[in-house]
Amino acid sequence: MNPKADSQRMDKIVSLCKRRGFIFQSSEIYGGLNGAWDYGPIGVELKRNLKNYWWRVMVHEREDVVGMDGAILTHPEVLMASGHVEGFSDPMIDCRSCKAHLRLDQLIEKKGGKQCPNCGGKDLTEARQFNLMFETHVGAAADESSIAYLRPETAQSIFVQFKNILEVSRKKLPFGIAQIGKAFRNEINPRNFTFRSREFEQMELEYFCRPEQGMELLEYWKEERLKFYENIGIPRDKLHVRTVPDEERAFYSKGTYDIEYDFPFGAQELEGVAYRTDYDLSQHQQASGKSLEYFDEETKQRFVPHVVEPSAGVDRTVLALICEAYSEDEAPDEKGKMEARVVLRFHPRLAPIKAGIFPLLKNNAQLVAKAKAIVDVLRPDMTVFYDESGAIGRRYRRQDEIGTPFGVTVDFETLGAKDPALRDTVTLRDRDSMRQERVALKDLPAILRERLV
Ligand code: GAP
Repeated sequence: MNPKADSQRMDKIVSLCKRRGFIFQSSEIYGGLNGAWDYGPIGVELKRNLKNYWWRVMVHEREDVVGMDGAILTHPEVLMASGHVEGFSDPMIDCRSCKAHLRLDQLIEKKGGKQCPNCGGKDLTEARQFNLMFETHVGAAADESSIAYLRPETAQSIFVQFKNILEVSRKKLPFGIAQIGKAFRNEINPRNFTFRSREFEQMELEYFCRPEQGMELLEYWKEERLKFYENIGIPRDKLHVRTVPDEERAFYSKGTYDIEYDFPFGAQELEGVAYRTDYDLSQHQQASGKSLEYFDEETKQRFVPHVVEPSAGVDRTVLALICEAYSEDEAPDEKGKMEARVVLRFHPRLAPIKAGIFPLLKNNAQLVAKAKAIVDVLRPDMTVFYDESGAIGRRYRRQDEIGTPFGVTVDFETLGAKDPALRDTVTLRDRDSMRQERVALKDLPAILRERLV
């Protein structure tokens, strides 16, 4: 790894994200809110495609998983029982020289002493625990009795609704409950663009099972999740499975894997896959006084199920998709001269816009009408972008930069002007190979649909 090249690559990615409408800093015109990000018109499509694909694979295509969508505002007793109020904290230190607030693990060790990574100062406060949860008040009285929290993970509402969902879905073990939604953590140092944010989204599955199935299902879900990343275009050799060692693992977990991706700023966690035993359900059962047991009709046993949890970050995966897709190569300009091009090589199923539709000339009414008719045919099935301005090479380049996998050009052949046999055919350009093929208009929707699954 070349740190300088990687940091330049990251700078280019951040700049492209802003320039092309993937991701903006939140509240930017007021100076920005640290740790919060807004997704623009292109970014929101990428994010939705990711969440929809996760939901399809993890919920719709499975007989044994159902979904839910829980509230963000969380009753304090839920988070007391889960251990978050007491223990969801990072050790924090202040540098008295430059006033930076730092996580203990960010300090640098030099000549046996600890130093501030910002200014090199050695005048540091003692470490103290800093709870990462955002506290708020529900209702008019802002006192102890009205405290609520913005959820720090989506998982807890799944545990708390376990009994209701078991009853309405009539599922038998093993089965899972899935959720996608916002989570909030008051991170001491948000950094690496969207990688560590204070507001982010998670895609979590709580997969309930018998105690004896836990370890096997941990392996199963690790493999399923690796396949998922490969299916969205993240190659296996850029993914690393880290077995979380005993001393780092939550005390109740019997095994945890981190799935890491080679970001330009180093290999970092995308997802955790954890066998959490019966800790969560048992805690909520004890604290609420309500039974969260499962009754097995065959064996007539009653017990608290165990759980295996694959928990992924939406924003981190979006960032990994962009980092993985980003590439620079060369493409010929109008005169055949090679020029630099930036291209996002998204898997077509994740690409924000699926096809760019271009009339060769904007001042030819027939070409324009034909191109607009194609837009109308394709739009119910996929996101398309109509563009008539500028030279055709420029228009291709603009779509390459946001990762549009296909370009459809309506030219004079489409009108049958040169060869009647080519009437109602268009050129279909492939983003990656830049190859162009001539296809009949009537076949275009089916060809695109087939290449987009
Ligand atoms: N329910 C388990 C849980 O929340 P976690 O490892 O703390 O486990 C799961 O979080 C995933 O959520 C992480 O792997 C990461 O993708 C994402 N995530 C956690 N903190 C984040 C943050 N501050 N910014 C962006 N994503 C975050």
